[in-house]
Amino acid sequence: MKNSEESKIFLSGKIAGLQLKNRIIRSGCFEGMSQGGRVTEQLVEHHRAVAAGGVAMTTVSYCSVSFDGRAFDHELWMRDEIIPGLQKLTETVHNEGTAASIQLGHCGYFASKKVIGKTPVGASRKYNLFRNSFCKAMTGKEIEEKIEDFGNAALMAKKAGFDAVEVHAGHGYLLSQFMSPFTNRRNDRYGGSVENRMRFPAEVIERIKKYVGNDFPVLVKMNQYDGMKGGLEIKEAVVSARLFEKAGADAIIPSCGFTSKTPFYMLRGKVPVKEMVSNKKNLFTKTGLALFGRFMVREVPFDKLFLLEGARKTKDAVSIPVIYIGGAVSKADMENLLSEGFGFIQIGRATIRDPEFVNKMKKGEVTESDCDHCNRCVAAMDAGGVFCVTREGKI
Ligand SMILES: Cc1cc2nc3c(=O)[nH]c(=O)nc-3n(C[C@H](O)[C@H](O)[C@H](O)COP(=O)(O)O)c2cc1C
Repeated sequence: MKNSEESKIFLSGKIAGLQLKNRIIRSGCFEGMSQGGRVTEQLVEHHRAVAAGGVAMTTVSYCSVSFDGRAFDHELWMRDEIIPGLQKLTETVHNEGTAASIQLGHCGYFASKKVIGKTPVGASRKYNLFRNSFCKAMTGKEIEEKIEDFGNAALMAKKAGFDAVEVHAGHGYLLSQFMSPFTNRRNDRYGGSVENRMRFPAEVIERIKKYVGNDFPVLVKMNQYDGMKGGLEIKEAVVSARLFEKAGADAIIPSCGFTSKTPFYMLRGKVPVKEMVSNKKNLFTKTGLALFGRFMVREVPFDKLFLLEGARKTKDAVSIPVIYIGGAVSKADMENLLSEGFGFIQIGRATIRDPEFVNKMKKGEVTESDCDHCNRCVAAMDAGGVFCVTREGKI
C-alpha cells in the first residue's frame, strides 16, 4: 500500500473557484435533524464531526428550494429565517478546515400533501404509491417560479457561507421527473425529446449561475439510469450531462434510482423493512410497508463501485470534473478512480459508519470501510437522526 503522502486521494483539487484539500467529499445523506425545516444543534454537530473526520467537503443533504418541495417536516427548507443557523453550520465546518456544500432540490410529485398543505406538482399528472396521491402537472408559470426559487435558494446558500451548492437532479426528484420519460409525458417545450425534457433543469442551472457567479461551484447530482422500465437510460443521461455542462454546471455526480419507485437502488444492499415499518407514523404507509414492503422495495445486492460503468460513460462525455459516487469503500479503489480521471469521490455510508474514516485512511489505520450495507441508517433518519445502527446498537 502507498503511504498517504503518495496517495492521489490526499492531493488538493479544484472545482470552479474552489480549492479542496483532498479528493473526498461526503455525499448528501438525509440527516433527519431539521424539525420544522430549521437548522438544529444536532445538524451542526453532525457536520462538525464529519468535517473533523477528514473529508475535503461535507454536503448538507436535501434542502428544499421552496415550501412545497418537501417530503417531510424534518427536512430543511431554504428561506431568510434559516440563514443565521446555516451560517453557524458553515462556520463550524470551516473551523475544522473543511468546505461545505448544500444540496438544493424539490420533491415534485412525491412531496407530502400533509406537509405542504396542497396537491404536489410534477412534470405530468401521476399517481405516487408511497404517498397514495396524485400530483398536478406544472404550468409554464409554475416552472418559471421554480427556476427562480432555485436561483434564490443558491444565493441564500452563498450568503450563508457555503462554498458550493449541489443541485439535486437525480433520484426521481422534481428535475429528475422532468428528465425521465417515465414521469414526463408533456407535449410542450418541456417534454418529448431529451433536449426538451432537459430544458427546465438546464434553465435552473443557468439561473443559479447568473445569481451566484462563475467562480461559485454548482455541482449537479443526476441519474445515469432510473432503474425501472420506461425510465431514463445511460444513452440519454450522457446527453443530459453534456447539456448540464453547457448550462454552466461545474461538476457532475452520476447516481441512479427513483425514490418513489426504486428507493434502495441508489444504495444497494439490504432493505430494512422491519425498522422502516416501526418508524413510520402514517397508518397507510405503515400498513402498506408491513404487508407489501418486500415487493414494493426491490432489494439489489451491494457491489463495490456499483455505478462505475455509467460513471465512466459520463466522464468520457463531458470536460468538467465527474465525481464518482456509489460503493467507493476502499482506498485502493479510490486511488484507481482518481488515476482513471475521476476528479473527486463522494462517499456516504462509510462516513455514517465512521465519521473518522478518511482520517483513518490517511493515517494508514484502515484501508476499507467496515460498513456492512444493512441500510438501517436509512430507517434511523426518521427515528431521531441518521446514525450507524450496527455501531450504536439501537432501533
Ligand atoms: C441514510 C442515507 C440518506 C441519504 N440521503 C440522500 C439525500 O438526501 N440526497 C441524496 O442525493 N442522496 C442521499 N443518499 C444517497 C447517498 O448520497 C449516496 O448516493 C449513496 O449512499 C451511495 O453512496 P455510498 O455507497 O458511498 O453510500 C442517502 C444515503 C443514505 C445511506
